[in-house]
Amino acid sequence: MKLKQPDTPAKDSIDVTRRTFLRAAVALGGAVVAGGVPMVVLGQQGGAGTVTRNPLRIPGASTPSGLTLTCAPGTASLGGGRSTSAWLYNGQFPGPTLVANSGERAVITLSNKLPQQSITHWHGMLVPHAADGHPHQVVQPDGSYKYDFTINQRATLNWYHPHPHLKTGEQVYRGLAGAFIIRDSVDTGAAGNSLGLPFGAYEVPLIIRDATFDSRGNLSFGNKSSGFFGNTPLVNGTLAPFLAVDKAVYRFRVLNGCNARVLRLALSNEAPIHLIGNEGGLLGSPPVSLTEIMVGPGERLDLLVDLRGLGQGSTVTLRCLGAGWDLLQFRGTGVAGGTGSIPTGSLSTIAALVGPTTVTRTFTFDGMTRINGKVYDMNRIDFRVPFGVVERWRFVTNGNGPHPVHVHGAYFQVKSRSGGRARVYPWEQGWKDTVLVHDGETVDVLIRFDAHRGLYVMHCHQLAHEDNGMMTNFEVV
Ligand code: C2O
Ligand code: CU
Ligand code: CU
Repeated sequence: MKLKQPDTPAKDSIDVTRRTFLRAAVALGGAVVAGGVPMVVLGQQGGAGTVTRNPLRIPGASTPSGLTLTCAPGTASLGGGRSTSAWLYNGQFPGPTLVANSGERAVITLSNKLPQQSITHWHGMLVPHAADGHPHQVVQPDGSYKYDFTINQRATLNWYHPHPHLKTGEQVYRGLAGAFIIRDSVDTGAAGNSLGLPFGAYEVPLIIRDATFDSRGNLSFGNKSSGFFGNTPLVNGTLAPFLAVDKAVYRFRVLNGCNARVLRLALSNEAPIHLIGNEGGLLGSPPVSLTEIMVGPGERLDLLVDLRGLGQGSTVTLRCLGAGWDLLQFRGTGVAGGTGSIPTGSLSTIAALVGPTTVTRTFTFDGMTRINGKVYDMNRIDFRVPFGVVERWRFVTNGNGPHPVHVHGAYFQVKSRSGGRARVYPWEQGWKDTVLVHDGETVDVLIRFDAHRGLYVMHCHQLAHEDNGMMTNFEVV
């Protein structure tokens, strides 16, 4: 991936006249016209123009071949002169974006400089047990762990984060998370890619999460068993970010990195967002045009946004409708740029798993701490799954949702949802590794473990639930 350098710091590019105009527009109900596209300008915490926005941070890229990843306490700058104490991978918040081609070998040494035990998991990577970051593999402070695996899967956005038993929520919250992008011969992330997808500065990872700060401006973590909900959004560790955008199609690689919060993404002008992929890479359909997309903790989205009509100085904002937050403001540079476009045909071919119509296994997500009535025990293996066989798994819950159910070691295909929202959404097609189960819902998936045998876990990715025991060990045999 060609890296976009962070925008030059924080001279607000909206001049006084424009600010006044924006305020007037908000007062009048917010309709302004930008580049011929009617655009609703929505205020954030006091109205457009009154918030000082900070340039979106773009984490630096690293190769996973021969990487030392150190997790340690440090200080993270949040933009606008604000900083917080945090726990960081290689001093960065979020951690470096790992980028590799499918077929490459990842050799990574994790060095734990935290005051407590840790282990890193590569969420979405199909790796042998020994490289999966199972809670059994935790290393003590000053210890290290060596990962060595071959990346053998299609292009997608995965991520990495700690996975020690009982401490995942706190460690992720304090800043330990990063993107892991896999490329392949179709999704090369470079000029000439066969789908014409935006690349370079026009492909931007967005790690969205929430946080709460104490009176000194440091991240504060309230470890509630019902789940942590912060009162402030951060994108790539930036407070109130903006991104200067050319007249171009942009590709946003989105990760919901929140401990518990489900995000409902939309654009402030209600323009369509073109969905092209999720956890398992590009969809097996043409892009799907949507005005709102729901993404739960751990889930990823691959989105195209057409900003070719955004004139110089005009803005449009990526919002979370659930929290009513402005997440990221796009500010037009007026410069025509980029060669990316929105594909019209099918993005990839995904063969539907063929498997049993009767349920192989049922998992109930009970209370806030149990699966099938049991609290997680690292030393208990709850079930065994035959290698290479398609099974139908059923996820059921009656309360304390939403539960983002995540499986290690395989991707699955969502077949049905009954009760609750009673449908499968466009962003739930193709290959998934995490699926949201709301209260009263029953979700069926087909799954086949055909990458590795060994011990893996399935758990709720609401991290307070996970830490409190909503996790299970199983063995692929
Ligand atoms: Cu993202 Cu088992 O976790
Ligand atoms: Cu995972
Ligand atoms: Cu849960």
